[in-house]
Amino acid sequence: MTVLFSENENRRCPKSIQIMLKDRNVLKGSMALSYHNFQAWCLNLNWNPTLLSVMAITKNDKLYIIMVGLPARGKTTIATKLKENLMHDSVKTRIFNNGELRRKMIRENTAYAGFFDPDNKEGVALRERIGLINIERARRYLNGQGNVAILDATHANVERRKLIRALLSDHPILFIECVNDDEEILEATILRKIDLPEFGHLTQEEAIRSFKQRIAYYQSIYAPLKNHEGNHIRLDSLNNRLIEEELVSEVPYVDQIRDFLLTDMIKNLYLIRHGETHFNLENRIGGDSGLTDDGRAQAMALAKYFQHKPIPLIFTSQKRRTIQTAMPIKERQKACTVIFLAEFNEIDAGICECLSYEEIKKGMPHVYSARKKDKYNYVYPQGEGYAAMEKRIERGIKKALYLSKPSDHIMIIGHRAVNRMILSHFLFRRREDVPYVYIPQDKFYYISSTQEKKTFQLKSYK
Ligand code: F6P
Repeated sequence: MTVLFSENENRRCPKSIQIMLKDRNVLKGSMALSYHNFQAWCLNLNWNPTLLSVMAITKNDKLYIIMVGLPARGKTTIATKLKENLMHDSVKTRIFNNGELRRKMIRENTAYAGFFDPDNKEGVALRERIGLINIERARRYLNGQGNVAILDATHANVERRKLIRALLSDHPILFIECVNDDEEILEATILRKIDLPEFGHLTQEEAIRSFKQRIAYYQSIYAPLKNHEGNHIRLDSLNNRLIEEELVSEVPYVDQIRDFLLTDMIKNLYLIRHGETHFNLENRIGGDSGLTDDGRAQAMALAKYFQHKPIPLIFTSQKRRTIQTAMPIKERQKACTVIFLAEFNEIDAGICECLSYEEIKKGMPHVYSARKKDKYNYVYPQGEGYAAMEKRIERGIKKALYLSKPSDHIMIIGHRAVNRMILSHFLFRRREDVPYVYIPQDKFYYISSTQEKKTFQLKSYK
């Protein structure tokens, strides 16, 4: 029987150490020791703790995560992502969501904006009560088996956060504030939010107005996190970018948490090129041509292929050929929305739009040869080039990933040049090679990238 343990170099002076007892690599048991006893134990056995291999450590292995942010800033999505990843690492995690509890506890409809008016005393009292119930549930969870309790609500003002710090003083707290002021994304997120049954009695317009008013009420009391509020991370939740980090005490799991927050994780991305178009047959570029009969048959085949995979959102460009490819797929899904993103429009060929490659070669030989020389950096007169598309494609990818969450399946139906750029975002390709990546119409790319592995396959759908 070997005993494996160690001190974790990154963490200073742990409170306790988890010791694992292993026999030929099979875990036979584990026990926790205070660091003090651990040292005494090692000395007793004449062992040097620092020479032993790292197996596991537990120092303050309990953590409260408090989400902060206005409505529709991605808090729930981030909380879900954290939970999934922590659970994957055997860290017992539970989310305590105030909105869900409100919907369960209160029979009457509480989705109307006035309920969130800070001057509505009854509404404020009810929301405070719900918050306190979740705080108590989180406390009990950590005092039992749980490792990480995530409180998912706006926690918009300083007083509320102060109260949380006072009530949850038994374990470390990490505030995570989600910030995102991109108007377009906000609009799209609101559209998804109002899908909840609690908005069912309103027209789409009324529901949007009501949700925006709710945001305005929260805005009127909202205070971003300040340094004196303890451990916190401010996150640009659209771009997975750390805006600020302030750690004033030991925060368990913080290295993992930061990594999960900053990594784009895509479980299943289906990257499809539109079906065959009339322009494709004539070797013409750009334009807004529709699908041929064969192109429609390709769209039908795709629809059949994906009919048993839930695809809640399909992102297309604003061109007819991608939308016509998406529609049959949508029709075979139970619930699916198609979102047309300008960011995924095909490369703008400027003065060459709607010409065939042969016509360009003949009529504009200077364009043809300059592009041939440096296809990646070449910019069509009055149009774009691959390098010039990079920013908008990045933006489209961010939008698609953000809006798809927490779905496991994302579908993008794009164009040849666009899909090349999307592929190269996920898989490193030398820039000069990107304009030559193979983007067929009878196959699609399947990409899956997580913390642990990246998969990339060209698949046939027929
Ligand atoms: O299908 C044709 C097309 O999508 C054109 O609209 C576009 O200009 C072209 O492919 C991009 O491919 P390349 O950069 O190889 O010309």
